[in-house]
Amino acid sequence: MAKIGVDYYPEHWDESLWEQDAELMAQTGVKVVRMAEFAWSRLEPKEGVFDFGWLDRAVELFASKGIEIILCTPTNCPPLWLYEKYPDALQTERSGQPIATGIRGHRCYNSPSLRKFSERIIRRLTERYGSNPAVTAWQIDNELDAVHCCCPECTERFRKYLKEKYGSLESINKAFGSNVWSGEYSAWTQIKPPLGSYPLGWYNPSYMLEWHRFCQKSVNDFVRFQAELIRETIPEAVITTNTWLCENAPDFYKMSEPLDVVSYDNYPPTRLPDDPDALYSHAFHLDLMRGIKRKNFWIMEQLSGAPGCWMPMTAAPKPEMIKGYALQAIARGADSVVHFRWRSAVSGAEMFWHGLIDQSNVPSRRFYEFAQLCREAEALDTDGTEVSSDIALLYSPDTETALKIQPQTDGFHYYNQLKSFHDGIISLGANCDIISQSADFSGYSVIIAPTMFITDESVVKRLYSFAENGGTVVLTNRSGVKDQYNNCIMAPLPAAYSELTGCTVQEFDPIGWDAAHVEMNGREYEVSCWCDVLKPDGAAVIASYTDRFYKGSPAVTVNSFGRGKCYYVGTIGKRDFYKELCARILSDAGLDIITDLPRNVELSARKGGGKEIIFIFNNNDKEVEFSYLNKKFRLKPFEMKTVTQS
Ligand code: GLA
Ligand code: ZN
Repeated sequence: MAKIGVDYYPEHWDESLWEQDAELMAQTGVKVVRMAEFAWSRLEPKEGVFDFGWLDRAVELFASKGIEIILCTPTNCPPLWLYEKYPDALQTERSGQPIATGIRGHRCYNSPSLRKFSERIIRRLTERYGSNPAVTAWQIDNELDAVHCCCPECTERFRKYLKEKYGSLESINKAFGSNVWSGEYSAWTQIKPPLGSYPLGWYNPSYMLEWHRFCQKSVNDFVRFQAELIRETIPEAVITTNTWLCENAPDFYKMSEPLDVVSYDNYPPTRLPDDPDALYSHAFHLDLMRGIKRKNFWIMEQLSGAPGCWMPMTAAPKPEMIKGYALQAIARGADSVVHFRWRSAVSGAEMFWHGLIDQSNVPSRRFYEFAQLCREAEALDTDGTEVSSDIALLYSPDTETALKIQPQTDGFHYYNQLKSFHDGIISLGANCDIISQSADFSGYSVIIAPTMFITDESVVKRLYSFAENGGTVVLTNRSGVKDQYNNCIMAPLPAAYSELTGCTVQEFDPIGWDAAHVEMNGREYEVSCWCDVLKPDGAAVIASYTDRFYKGSPAVTVNSFGRGKCYYVGTIGKRDFYKELCARILSDAGLDIITDLPRNVELSARKGGGKEIIFIFNNNDKEVEFSYLNKKFRLKPFEMKTVTQS
């Protein structure tokens, strides 16, 4: 059974509502409730004065209804008294000013005061609820991002981080190439966070990459600090933190090391894009989350109503979307889907980000669909099943950061490079894991490694030996460009990978939004953003440009290497291009593919305990009809069907 749950804020509601809420949850089939991630001022209204009475009653109430509780550490929202008395707990902006205490998330992860008061409140919580069997898991903070705090403490720690990594200013100057434009450091005090209104793009890219790495380390240290603290009192605690794909993303792989489960806040778009080439499927996000620990994961917040507040409201979830998108998450490895939120707020900054029950307090269409989801999820026998895949797509936090620091051309986005291949693979009915480039490659037949921009020698070696031993590697444009310090490598691209690809880049053309064309398998495809003009050195050509000054030159190649092969994709196409390319790559590697699935129909399989559940999801706002497994399927918009085989 996959567990369906809700996010609930007892501190926002009159206590007289709790009992009826809990009762309705129990009747509806809610199995889990998450609480208290923003409730610090209610738990410690004054310094050292605690009030757990209300939380005791809420925990007791849900426990009495047989509903499991995920309790959160409330460190996202330190109370205003704390910031006032201990201002080091506040982040400092690039202006050098402390951040205004607007809504939430103002804390500096490195602040000694924040650490001290967090430790006390977390100890109180774990000592009080650690032995309560109803509390089955702990969430650390909420949606942690690698914020760029420029406070004195962070400045000192940044210097210390660089000192430990490089040893001396001379090594830093060498690694950063600081002699360009007289940026050489002659004293540690000259190393500062990127303060001021100076555009970030004008800073030294090596320095910026280290600054981002440091900010990522700060959030990881904060997570580890909390996880260790929770385990001191509850050694067997199940610990998570809810992640999202934010502007300053943490390094998910490192962040999750001290955690037991990855959880994700999943808000698929409620209005499908008009552009048929838009990559809107959240299957990508879900496969990325599963790949962090290469284990099943949880959804901690799931679409429930019209999103809004941080922008004008967008469309309400259409019929079947609430259920369909929750089941899509389960299909791709979620064991628990917690919906944000039980009811819409009536006060506070987020009253128009809607929950399952509107402000009217009258359950309606969305709620009844959610109730149906609870019944269907309960009936699904997913226990002991997992998603397994022959194909892995590699993701690198360093490359993502480096490409944010230096965008390559209009329309070129790292995530889109990954999403395009992912879309090509899933359009063929195959499962795909998105994993860290440092993860173990054994067990896969195909490794797709788009834009290996920052070169990690150990990953290069492992890709060579993967191909040597019979695997298929796929590399693309902007690979081998940079070293670990974010400096360019002086060698024909793809530099470290050239032997593997059997070709080099003779010239490249960053064409941005403009279009070029290639011919592959007798068909012409439009490409954009980037055109590598390739010079084969042993590789065979599988697509060539049909226009521009490099008309006739190779754009995509394949090279035999050891017992395996390596594809090089020098340009960026649209959905059909990746479907065609992936069909060739996967069938050449001996993998099963289905070429006639309707667009945006997603198959995935969970296997284990002698059974296999095949999930078939129509991620379209129109009905589709097709044949699969010798059966006719007709799926309504956003409908999920399952087939169990033993
Ligand atoms: C995030 C946060 C929630 C809420 C939702 C909706 O996922 O974790 O607290 O703000 O976004 O905006
Ligand atoms: Zn700070």
